[in-house]
Amino acid sequence: MTRTFPEEIRTRLQHALGAADVDLPSRFVPAVSPTNDPRFGDYQSNAAMILGKQLGTNPRALAEKILAVFDPEKLCDPPEIAGPGFINFRIQSALLNERLFGLLTHDSLGVSTVADPQTIVIDFSAPNVAKPMHVGHIRSTFIGDALARIARFLGHTVISDNHIGDWGKQFGMILYGWRNFLDESAFEKDPIGALVALYKRVNSLAKEDQAVNTACKEELVKLQQGDPGNIEIWERVIVLTRSGLDKIYGPLDIHFDHWLGESAYNARLAALTEELMESGTATESEGAICVFFPDDPALADKPPCIVRKQDGGFGYAATDIATIEHRVHEFKADEIWYVVGAPQQLHFDQVFAVARKRGLDSALVFIPFGSILGDDRKMLRTREGEPPQLGDLIEEAVERARQIVEEKNPGLPSDEKDTIAKTVGIGAVKYAELSQHRMTDYIFSWDKMLSMQGNTAPYLQNAYVRIRSIFRKLEGEADFGERAELEDENEKKLALKLLQFSEAVPEVLVDHRPNSLANYLYELADTFHGFYESCPVLRAEGVTRDTRLTLSEITSRVLCQGLDLLGIEVPDRM
Ligand code: ARG
Repeated sequence: MTRTFPEEIRTRLQHALGAADVDLPSRFVPAVSPTNDPRFGDYQSNAAMILGKQLGTNPRALAEKILAVFDPEKLCDPPEIAGPGFINFRIQSALLNERLFGLLTHDSLGVSTVADPQTIVIDFSAPNVAKPMHVGHIRSTFIGDALARIARFLGHTVISDNHIGDWGKQFGMILYGWRNFLDESAFEKDPIGALVALYKRVNSLAKEDQAVNTACKEELVKLQQGDPGNIEIWERVIVLTRSGLDKIYGPLDIHFDHWLGESAYNARLAALTEELMESGTATESEGAICVFFPDDPALADKPPCIVRKQDGGFGYAATDIATIEHRVHEFKADEIWYVVGAPQQLHFDQVFAVARKRGLDSALVFIPFGSILGDDRKMLRTREGEPPQLGDLIEEAVERARQIVEEKNPGLPSDEKDTIAKTVGIGAVKYAELSQHRMTDYIFSWDKMLSMQGNTAPYLQNAYVRIRSIFRKLEGEADFGERAELEDENEKKLALKLLQFSEAVPEVLVDHRPNSLANYLYELADTFHGFYESCPVLRAEGVTRDTRLTLSEITSRVLCQGLDLLGIEVPDRM
C-alpha cells in the first residue's frame, strides 16, 4: 500500500515534532493540504501556526525548529517557510516520475483500499409506492449510488437496500381507490402512472371528505392486520411498481442488493412495540405509543417519536427501528447510511436515539441533501406544476443529447448516435447533481448541464474522447517506454494531479460528498487541457514522448474510472 503524499508528509511532520521536543497538545494531528498556488509548492501545513497560537510561541520560529529536524529524504525538496508560518512542501521530481510511471500498472490508479473495511448498508432512493417520486428521491438515487460505488471501490462491503414506502398511509388510499374507481385498462398501459393518478384522486377526495379519509385509514388498518382481500390487492400493486421502477433504474445502471421496503418489517412491529413498552422506552400518551427523550437536550422539547398511532397503525418510526435491528443483526452492518432529504432530520435523530437505547451500536449516519430548484428558484416542477418524474427527466435528457449529437456529428451511424445520446444525456443529469455540494439547493438547467464547456459531464466525457483519439492516431499498441521523465511545469502539474486521485477518492467519504470527486475530475480535465496546449504529444520524441503518452493514458483512465465512480459512462466518440 503506497501512502499518499499528504499522509507521508504528515508522518514525517509528526516525527519532526517529536524530535524537536515540541510540547504537543494531546491527539494533535498536523494538517497537510494541497496548495492552490504552485508558487507555494505542492502541499502546505499550518501546523506551526496552530501550535504557535496554542503554545504562545512565534509560529515562524516554531516552523524553523520543526524544519531543522524534518527529514525530506526521497520525498520533497527542503521545505520552506512562508508568510506567518506556513510550511510549504514541493514533491521531488524523481518521486513524481516514479509514482506516475507506477500508475500504468496499478489497477486502481493509485487508490489504496482502506485498512479497516466496514460493512456498510446504504439506504437510498426509496420512493413511495403509488406516490409520485419527488426531487428528493432523484437526489437520493444519484448520491446514494455514487457513495455505494465509491465505498466499494475503497474496499468496504456495501449492501444497498431500497427501502421503498410500500406500507404507508397512501395504501389506505390506493385500496379505497382500487375498490371504488379502478380502471383496469389504464393499468395495462402505464401501471405506475395509473397508480399515481388513483392516489391523487383519492387523496384530494379525502382532504375534502372526512368520511373518505376515515374509510382510507380503515382500509390501511385492515391491510396491516392481514385482511386477505387487501393483501391481494397490495401484492399486485407492489409487483406493478417494482417492474416500473426496474425500468427506470436499469438504464441508469443502478442496482440494489435488497428491496426490503417498509412492509418487510410488518410482522415485527407489534412485538417491537411491546418490547419498547416493557423496557420503559416507550409509553402510552393520548392513546398513542410514544418515545419521549427528556434526557436528550436536542430532542427533549420536540414532539415525541410515535411508534403506534391512536388508530392502531404503526408509524414510519416503528418500521425504521425494526429496519435498523434487521440490518445490524442480519446484515452485520457496522455502519448504516441514510441518504434522505434534510426535512427528515428529526425522524432520524429520534429513530437513532431509540436504536441506541436498544443497544444497537452500529454507526448510524444521516446523509441529508437540499432541493432542486427551477428557474424561478422555487422547487423544481414540470409545466403542469407537478414534481418531475425521474423517468421523464432521463427521457428528456437523452432526447436533448440526441439533438446535440445530430448537430455536431451528423455523419455517425444512427445506432451509435443513440448510444452516445444515452451516455451523454444520463451522464449530464447525474453529474449536474453530483457536482453540487449535497446541501446546496441547485438550479436545474438543461442548457448548463448539457454544455460542452464548464463543469459538466459532456465536458469531461469530451476530454476523455479527445485523449482516446490521440491513441487512435497511433494505430496499434502505445509504447510508454521504460520510465517517465517530467520536465515541463505543465507535465509536473498534471502528474501531481493524477497522483492526487488517490487523495480525491477517499476524501468523498469524509463527509459523504461525491462533489469533491467531481470537482477533482473537472480540475484534472482542465490541467490536462493546459498540458495539451503547451506540450505536443505525438510530435515529441524519445522519453519526452513516452512521458507525455503516459500522462495522456493515465488521464484518460482516471477520467473513466472517476466518472464510473459517479455512475457515469464515457463514450468512445462524441
Ligand atoms: N420513503 C421515504 C420517503 O419517500 C424515504 C425512506 C428513507 N429510508 C428510510 N429508511 N426511512 O420519504
